[in-house]
Amino acid sequence: MKTIIITGGAGFIGSHVVREFVLKYPDYKIINLDALTYAGNLENLKDIETLPNYQFIKADIVDAKLMLDIFENYQPDGVIHLAAESHVDRSISNPLDFVMTNVIGTVNLLNAAKHIWKDDYTGKRFHHVSTDEVYGTLGNEGFFTENTAYDPHSPYSASKASSDHFVRAYQDTYEMPIVLTNCSNNYGPNHFPEKLIPLCIHNILNKKSLPIYGDGKFTRDWLYVKDHAKAIDLVFHEGKDGNSYNVGGFNEWKNIDLVKELCKQMDEKLNNPVGTSEQLITFVKDRPGHDLRYAIDATKINQELDWKPSVTFEEGLSKTIDWFLENKEWLENVTSGDYQNYYEKQYK
Ligand code: NAD
Ligand code: TYD
Repeated sequence: MKTIIITGGAGFIGSHVVREFVLKYPDYKIINLDALTYAGNLENLKDIETLPNYQFIKADIVDAKLMLDIFENYQPDGVIHLAAESHVDRSISNPLDFVMTNVIGTVNLLNAAKHIWKDDYTGKRFHHVSTDEVYGTLGNEGFFTENTAYDPHSPYSASKASSDHFVRAYQDTYEMPIVLTNCSNNYGPNHFPEKLIPLCIHNILNKKSLPIYGDGKFTRDWLYVKDHAKAIDLVFHEGKDGNSYNVGGFNEWKNIDLVKELCKQMDEKLNNPVGTSEQLITFVKDRPGHDLRYAIDATKINQELDWKPSVTFEEGLSKTIDWFLENKEWLENVTSGDYQNYYEKQYK
């Protein structure tokens, strides 16, 4: 029996990873370690929370002593590390929060794993979940490969890049078996409505404007979250020690085109006259340091591990909208309270 600690399991991607592992590996003990910040929500895991191979621990990865105690108590064989501050706009207002969780928190976990594994790494693995944003920005052409030099521009991506370097350093210095995944923008159920897609779904439902930064020509590569969870499962089990794998959707959209597609699908599903939601599009002040384009070359994970996205963007977006329409209460719960204050400050 394997014990695996998944950090950040109450968040958007983490909850899909936890569900994937709990359902697929009944013999594993899956421990979801999460501080439940504004982005963490145990509602995301209601359907699996009573299963015998699942356990939740509320803990902050910035607390080094607590991490040592938890690792000593539970003796995990594997760590899949997703806990992070994850929103670029918040990193611009509060960079230090990102250093604390993303850098210090990651080093605390590496130290706790090193402490209990005591140089006997048989059957052990530390999987660090990172982002394509560490590579910086592309012009109109080219793709990020695993060999692209790091060139982060936002406090978020700088903190993730730093954590990636620490994870690799623990392999090189202490021979810890590590793997990394660097994934493109995710979307899907349970996405927190501070990010572009769920924010626009929420605003369309509330007939509020759809804020597009700058000229809307910024480009992202979008991947359905369940396909990311499957990629993490594959890399955790079959990836090569010390390797990183880029994960992407082969699916680039300019923000303005993506929002128009979203408006079209929302109008169809809500039986609105054609063009209703598009009228809400509003161009607003650009994000400082805004990266022009991200695009992932996912050839390595495709060829070595036979991974590819399972849904087209149009299908994934349709499933995502359906989920939000069926879970309006979830959306209302997460957008009450502090969310309103954040929104006022960010979009005033
Ligand atoms: P999220 O913000 O939805 O969730 C983050 C989770 O981490 C939350 O449950 C939160 O409570 C928890 N957390 C935050 N600080 C913590 C702390 N100090 N101690 C313990 N738990 C803490 O994030 P997400 O979008 O699900 O991203 C998960 C991971 O995937 C992150 O590492 C992110 O960098 C990476 N990633 C995200 C995307 C994306 O498009 N969202 C793409 C590529 C990689
Ligand atoms: P976001 O979902 O915040 O993800 P990331 O910054 O990690 O890529 O943003 C996706 C793109 O959408 C990015 O180019 C910024 C842009 N954007 C807007 O135009 N308006 C918004 O209100 C938000 C949140 C993002």
